[in-house]
Amino acid sequence: SRLIALIPAAGSGSRMGNQLPKQYLPLAGKPMIYHALATLCHTPRIDQVCIVLAPDDELWVRYDWSPFLDKLKVLYRGGATRAQSVLYGLSALQSEGAIQDDDWVLVHDAARPCLSSAQLDRLIDALVQDEVGGLLAIPVADTLKRADEKQCVIGTAAREGLWQAQTPQMFRLGLLVAALNKADNTAITDDASAIEALGLSPRLVLADAYNFKVTYPQDLALAELILQQRGA
Ligand code: CTP
Ligand code: MG
Repeated sequence: SRLIALIPAAGSGSRMGNQLPKQYLPLAGKPMIYHALATLCHTPRIDQVCIVLAPDDELWVRYDWSPFLDKLKVLYRGGATRAQSVLYGLSALQSEGAIQDDDWVLVHDAARPCLSSAQLDRLIDALVQDEVGGLLAIPVADTLKRADEKQCVIGTAAREGLWQAQTPQMFRLGLLVAALNKADNTAITDDASAIEALGLSPRLVLADAYNFKVTYPQDLALAELILQQRGA
């Protein structure tokens, strides 16, 4: 079976508070999405990298994607939520007959530009023989408080056994499409949740904190530093 990557990039970046959607914000001299795209395309084991853009995206065509043309496929199929964008993108590939149900799909956020090839390889190595699939994740480091509506603490959650989910998340195409079709796509924020709702148990693969999601303006400086150190 083959390995395909899918990058949902149809969000607006509302928490970033910039006109320009987050995936196109400049980072280390490139639009943000360029970095994840480069890491995925440069991994020999990945056969194709599909980008899901908003149907009315006018920014994509303004940049030079020529380094990636051998593996790149662009789908103007984004939906109202991340889960919908992933589902619509995968359904398009499925109906084209471009991939098979037992091919692996690695879904990766455009907003995680600091994914390293080493982490990507660890994920694939850990899961390629797995029954269900899984995701990169890190154990929670901070103490977790539950608050009431007045922002007063009403409890402290035991940290043990809690992990922060990252991407890529790696599942077989047929299973993931079935799971996303069944899930409440307005409520879930990652692909693994849809798989869990089927009663299956995705495997967590230990990642590093460099692969954080760029969400707020202050995240940009940190991502820039990480990419520069790596010589991106
Ligand atoms: N995404 C998508 N389609 C949507 C919403 C999000 O493809 N309708 C993508 C984003 O482009 C991003 C990834 O899903 O690559 C993770 O989402 P997030 O970090 O939440 O990005 P945004 O939704 O753009 O940001 P915000 O939630 O702050 O608006
Ligand atoms: Mg969002």
